[in-house]
Amino acid sequence: MRPLIIAANWKMNTTPADAGELAATIAARTEEPGVVRVICPPFVCLAAVRDALAGKNVAVGAQNVHHELAGAYTGEISAAMLNGLATWVIVGHSERRRDAHESDELIGKKLARAVASGLRPILCVGELLAEREAGRAVEVVAAQLRGALAGKDVDALLSAGFVIAYEPVWAIGTGRTATSADAAAMADAIRSTLSADLGWGDAAEDVPVLYGGSVTSANIGEFLAERSIDGGLVGGASLKPDEMAGMVARAAVTAKARAAAAGKPE
Ligand code: PGA
Repeated sequence: MRPLIIAANWKMNTTPADAGELAATIAARTEEPGVVRVICPPFVCLAAVRDALAGKNVAVGAQNVHHELAGAYTGEISAAMLNGLATWVIVGHSERRRDAHESDELIGKKLARAVASGLRPILCVGELLAEREAGRAVEVVAAQLRGALAGKDVDALLSAGFVIAYEPVWAIGTGRTATSADAAAMADAIRSTLSADLGWGDAAEDVPVLYGGSVTSANIGEFLAERSIDGGLVGGASLKPDEMAGMVARAAVTAKARAAAAGKPE
C-alpha cells in the first residue's frame, strides 16, 4: 500500500528566527496516524526546523540540491551539506525550471545524486496552461518523466521511496486547481509512463503520486477521494498551522479508509 503524504513546501518564506516555532506548531497540530508529514523550509532554516522537529515524527526536506557533491559552484548546496539536516528533497519544482532554467536532464542528475546520498526525492512535473489548453498535458508530463528518469536505477529510486508530485504550473499559487478527475487521470498517465515507456512494470504502482497547486484544507478532500492520488505538495497553505491541521486530518481519514479497504478480503 502506498503511503499518504502531506509535504509542505515553504518556498522562500520564513527565517531562521521564526521557522522553528512554525514547524513545532505545525507538528503539534498535525499528530494524526497514517500520514507521512514533511516540511521543506529554505536551506538556511533547515537546522532550526530539524531541531524543532526532533522526536516529532515529521521529516525535514530541502527544496533543491546540486547534482555535484562539491566544487566550484557558487551559491549552490550539495547533498553532502544536507547530511544531518534533511532526509527528503524536492527536485525539479516548476519555479526552478522557470527561474533557474533547470532541464529534465539536469533534474535527472539531481535525482540520481539525491538517491545516491540517501535523500528521499519528490520529483515535480506539470504542464503550462497553454500546453493543457492545447491538449498536450499528458504528452508534456510524460516527456518530463522520460527526460529525468530514462536510464536511472529503478531499484535505487524505489528503495529511496521516490515520490512524484504532479503540479500543473497554472495551478501553483493561483488559487485555481486542476479538477480532481484531471489530476487523477494525470496520476494514472504518470504511472503508465513509468510502467510502459520507462519499463518499470508493476513497480510503477508503488510510486506515490501527490497533487500540488493551490491545495488547501477545503479542497484536498476532492483530490484524496481519487485512489491514484496519495497526498499533496502544498505551498501557500503549508505556512498556516490551521490549514496544515485540516489537510493532515483529512489525509488521516483517507489513510484509514484505504487501509480498511486493503484489509478486506476480495
Ligand atoms: P501552492 O504551491 O500550494 O502555493 O500553489 C504548491 C507548490 O508549488 O508546491
